[in-house]
Amino acid sequence: MSRKKILVTGGAGFIGGNFVQYMVKKYPAYDIYNLDFLTYAGDLTKHSEIEELENYYFLKADIADRDSIATLFKELKFDFVVHFAAESHVDRSITDPGIFVQTNVVGTQVLLDAAKQYGITKFVHVSTDEVYGDLEFDPTTFFTEVTPLQPNSPYSASKASSDLLVRAYHETFGLPMNITRCSNNYGPYHFPEKLIPLTISRVLNDQSVPVYGDGKNIRDWLHVLDHCSAIDLVMHEGVNGEVYNVGGHNERTNLEVVKAIIETLGKSEELIEYVTDRLGHDKRYAIDPTKLEQLGWNPTYTFETGIAQTIQWYIENKEWWEKIISGEYQTCFEKQYYK
Ligand code: NAD
Ligand code: DAU
Repeated sequence: MSRKKILVTGGAGFIGGNFVQYMVKKYPAYDIYNLDFLTYAGDLTKHSEIEELENYYFLKADIADRDSIATLFKELKFDFVVHFAAESHVDRSITDPGIFVQTNVVGTQVLLDAAKQYGITKFVHVSTDEVYGDLEFDPTTFFTEVTPLQPNSPYSASKASSDLLVRAYHETFGLPMNITRCSNNYGPYHFPEKLIPLTISRVLNDQSVPVYGDGKNIRDWLHVLDHCSAIDLVMHEGVNGEVYNVGGHNERTNLEVVKAIIETLGKSEELIEYVTDRLGHDKRYAIDPTKLEQLGWNPTYTFETGIAQTIQWYIENKEWWEKIISGEYQTCFEKQYYK
């Protein structure tokens, strides 16, 4: 039997990077192709331990570059596509929405065309709970797979658009697919523009932590490795054409998250700095993962075990995130919060 070829887009980013490492180690009989354009969020140094492995390959390409993508699909004949590549940061989508449409919508459509033309076993589209909009602070309400799509930010609107294209290629052309919609991830290699790595890195450096508005917005946190196992399961066992929500019932206010990190690191809550709220700031996200649990998935981390592991990882890998918080990103950060 020939080896399976798995195309992972966005495998130099946070979740895609963790997924690539999980897959090359778990499935020596699969060839894992990491396709990434290496934008500001892409970083290959995280793969130094796997880059010599025989089942790992890197392809530099823009998913919106039709000719390059078609050539790669034609030559390599992928069995599975697991599509992570995206512009992923809500604040950047408020400042500059155009690139979100280009990468998340046009890029996804280019991949779908190539998958349709050259044939694949399955296209797994990694989406987000943000496509459902937000929930009130009523703890009995959750997003299910049939919650209407009501995205509020340019980021979530671009992700919802890409979800609908994936659905349309399935309904119109019979493209085999699954869509996953996950809650907020955290863990190793999380880019330090997002709340948890930003807080850990700034508290470790005794810098203030910007909390938007009153800090009472709620997110439902999932350790990135639990997200990887969910995608692995959906890729192999997901029913063709189905959507699966991914989340572990770990709702926390932003203030609770920031205070937990400050306490673990033994620093003062005086580091908290309330700043102007995000435009259109979604109040609460909360996932009902019943459908995925019925397929056989269970998360292994609680928020407490996951955040402790993550803080320890950032302590031990200061070199990685210090390199990232210099340069272009630092200028962007200062412009956003302290102008
Ligand atoms: P990330 O920003 O860390 O990584 C994105 C990766 O995509 C980077 O490596 C970047 O170089 C690459 N990329 C960007 N534009 C590209 C292009 N045109 N062509 C090829 N590669 C390109 O993102 P992440 O947080 O790892 O998120 C990955 C996916 O998961 C996204 O689709 C996101 O919408 C989704 N998601 C994220 C979360 C979360 O909490 N981070 C939760 C649910 C879903
Ligand atoms: O829900 C899944 C989504 O989670 C993913 O689709 C996105 O790609 C991912 O970026 C994430 O979006 P959020 O906007 O929820 O994540 P972020 O880390 O940017 O913000 C989390 C919460 O913390 C949010 O309520 C805004 C707040 N926040 C964020 C930053 C960066 C702050 O209060 N201060 C900050 O400095």
